[in-house]
Amino acid sequence: MAVKDIMDAFRGTDLSDLGIRENLAQLVKDIKLIGEELEVVLYLPKPGIEGFLKDKVREAVSGLRDVKDVKVRFADSPPPKQEIPVGQPAFTRRPVPGVRHLVAVGSGKGGVGKSTVAVNLALALRNLGYRVGLLDADIYGPSVPTLMGLKGERVRVSERNKLVPLEKFGIKVLSIGLMLPSEDTPVIWRGPMLMKALTQFLFDTEWGELDYLVLDLPPGTGDVQLTLAQNVEMAGAIVVTTPQDVALADVRKATSMFKEVNVPVIGVIENMAYFTCPETGNRYYIFGKGRVAEFAASYNLKILGSIPIDPEVAERSDTGEPVVISHPDSEVARAFVGIAKMVAQNLG
Ligand SMILES: Nc1ncnc2c1ncn2[C@@H]1O[C@H](COP(=O)(O)OP(=O)(O)OP(=O)(O)O)[C@@H](O)[C@H]1O
Ligand SMILES: [Mg+2]
Repeated sequence: MAVKDIMDAFRGTDLSDLGIRENLAQLVKDIKLIGEELEVVLYLPKPGIEGFLKDKVREAVSGLRDVKDVKVRFADSPPPKQEIPVGQPAFTRRPVPGVRHLVAVGSGKGGVGKSTVAVNLALALRNLGYRVGLLDADIYGPSVPTLMGLKGERVRVSERNKLVPLEKFGIKVLSIGLMLPSEDTPVIWRGPMLMKALTQFLFDTEWGELDYLVLDLPPGTGDVQLTLAQNVEMAGAIVVTTPQDVALADVRKATSMFKEVNVPVIGVIENMAYFTCPETGNRYYIFGKGRVAEFAASYNLKILGSIPIDPEVAERSDTGEPVVISHPDSEVARAFVGIAKMVAQNLG
């Protein structure tokens, strides 16, 4: 079931018995389908027909098996003068106010280092002089509080009823893990609740003016990715992978998903690319060499950088000292700076 099917049903709903020339689709200001719940915002062409229009919406979707719940609201503003062209995308992507570039870090597979990349990329961008925020969009398994050494801290709400991100190492940080009563509270939001939380993190938060807001996505191609892609204007996505076949197979899926929802893929980061022996300086390509490059070439994607395996990275993750801060001269930290420069060159 797609929004398109619903819009098709609306298009076939004539409103002439209400004295309205347009069909139902032409009155749609905003439409969202989250799980089985449909939310529609309609322009009201004349007052007093709200109830009738709601009935028309319910009637139109009554034949659609996957829509269980319908919410209809009305836009505050009058319908625009010109006719809404039929067939235009029905959802609206909003930019996050004050944020120049929203960059999502994702992958198809879990555990490839997305959160490590998101955190260190954010810090490397900040070290280049940019104003940076970091949003943990991993609602189910937030790891940013641990990685940033913010475990146990809590965000507060401002007088204007907005979330106030925490500040650490010079960047603004927000995560569901900084809002739950305790670290062990399970998060079981789905559909509309999840969507609400995510939009709140983006739009009801005092981010201020930022050059970059880096998003740490959960693994896979699920609700969070789609919700974001449909509702938020993004500069692009960065796909993280390791050189193993399984990771590459999953990253293919992730890349296709971003393409499908029209989010440009800025490039690929190869994590755990090799290990440099500290004694000899020799590089060992433990998970294979050259496969990520092959993959990137076949999808016409840029490789933004290759990050070596460094036991220090894993160790420092638990103590909340990202490697860009704790070991700025290490090979890994330098790789992150290189990636940050590539991203900045791409987006400006
Ligand atoms: N380059 C690296 N060298 C050594 N260890 C690394 C490296 N990158 C990530 N790790 C370690 O691998 C583990 C997984 O990393 P991380 O949590 O960043 O992955 P993720 O993709 O965000 O996982 P999830 O899918 O669970 O969100 C962590 O223990 C992290 O410290
Ligand atoms: Mg993660």
